Amino acid sequence: MRLMRLLHDLYIALLIAASAALIAQTSTWAVPLPTAIVCVGMLWISSLSVINLRRTVVVMVFPVVFVLLMKYDPGSAALVAALGSMSAQEFRIMQENNPPLGALLKFIGNRAVTALSAFAAWGAFKLVYPHDPLNFGDPVFLLASAAAGMTWVITSGLIVNLQIVLSRPSFRLRLEPSIVFGSVYSTLPSVVMGLMGAAMYELGGLLPFAVTQAFFIYNKHYTHWAMVQKENAEQINLALARIIDSKDHYTAGHSERVAELARRLAEHCRLPRADVERLEYIARLHDLGKINVPNEILTKPSALTPSEFDAVKMHSEWGAELIRGMDKIYSERDYRAILEHHERYDGAGYPLGKKGTEISLWARILCICDAWDAMTSERVYRPALPEAEAIEELRRNAGAQFDPELVEIFINKVLSE
Ligand SMILES: [Fe+2]
Ligand SMILES: [Fe+2]
Repeated sequence: MRLMRLLHDLYIALLIAASAALIAQTSTWAVPLPTAIVCVGMLWISSLSVINLRRTVVVMVFPVVFVLLMKYDPGSAALVAALGSMSAQEFRIMQENNPPLGALLKFIGNRAVTALSAFAAWGAFKLVYPHDPLNFGDPVFLLASAAAGMTWVITSGLIVNLQIVLSRPSFRLRLEPSIVFGSVYSTLPSVVMGLMGAAMYELGGLLPFAVTQAFFIYNKHYTHWAMVQKENAEQINLALARIIDSKDHYTAGHSERVAELARRLAEHCRLPRADVERLEYIARLHDLGKINVPNEILTKPSALTPSEFDAVKMHSEWGAELIRGMDKIYSERDYRAILEHHERYDGAGYPLGKKGTEISLWARILCICDAWDAMTSERVYRPALPEAEAIEELRRNAGAQFDPELVEIFINKVLSE
């Protein structure tokens, strides 16, 4: 273990030495001081928000470094990149998790990773486009820019992964297609930003370049803010689903399972991505109105009296009315999905007695997923139905309770996954 620790520290020291030597060798210190100050300052401001989209890490360092690599030398560009990528937040986290010297070594080591990535990006660019002048109209120039972006991401990924392997021998290096695709996906916008920055710098000098970068950074902060809002809304949504299900331990996890099934059925119906996500979100709340139904009715082991059954049936209207009161968050489609999820295809459902395609598509999807989960999970008044019997039940009720087309997709696609 001590040997691994030593190897790890030696590795970081080597990275630092290599980047320092490369900077000293190649730098002509040609970057004008105002440009260097603007670049480092922009990068520091940009590091105040970190965007981690599900498959995308928005890299702001590369666009700035790209401009310097194009206009000046790789050594100066690497140095500015290393300085600009310093963040107080990163240092604080390192201090919390490492002894003082170890934290400092790791912190400087990360700067070395940025510098080495800059050198690698420059090497890839020159390999594809060995000519000197910037030529934004030349496809080979654009290709070389993309190659520089990819090399930047791949180099830093490899160096950091090797560092993790040395500090945690149990760590398994995995190269998943989704990770590779995610890297490509996240690099291309950085390349485009770099090209735009370079064009601005070439055409108008520092001021237009700084304005472009400020716009990108503003956009990044705004996206970060919007993502935090979205995550908060998702947390509240999950919490609400748990509150609904906690009313009755027999239905624990019901809302989440219905949401999962609704998402899969909607995907197989080829609904647009945004609709699929929204339906999954709203499906978690389909039984929201049950929070108004007394517990003794929901958990009653014997048959319900007609008035008790009427109270249970009110849950779709109550749920819909609850979300109607939050019209900044929920739309008419969300409202209808909840209101109509107990309507039947033949018109014999509740609360409105709508039939066929008068019932919203989202509600017809929910109806099947809701019934499937109810049938295949244990209830206070009966055991869970075996899957084959539940499929039989769906088929028997296709065209009566359920939309027959959706039943076929559910059975043939969702259940066969
Ligand atoms: Fe319901
Ligand atoms: Fe339900």
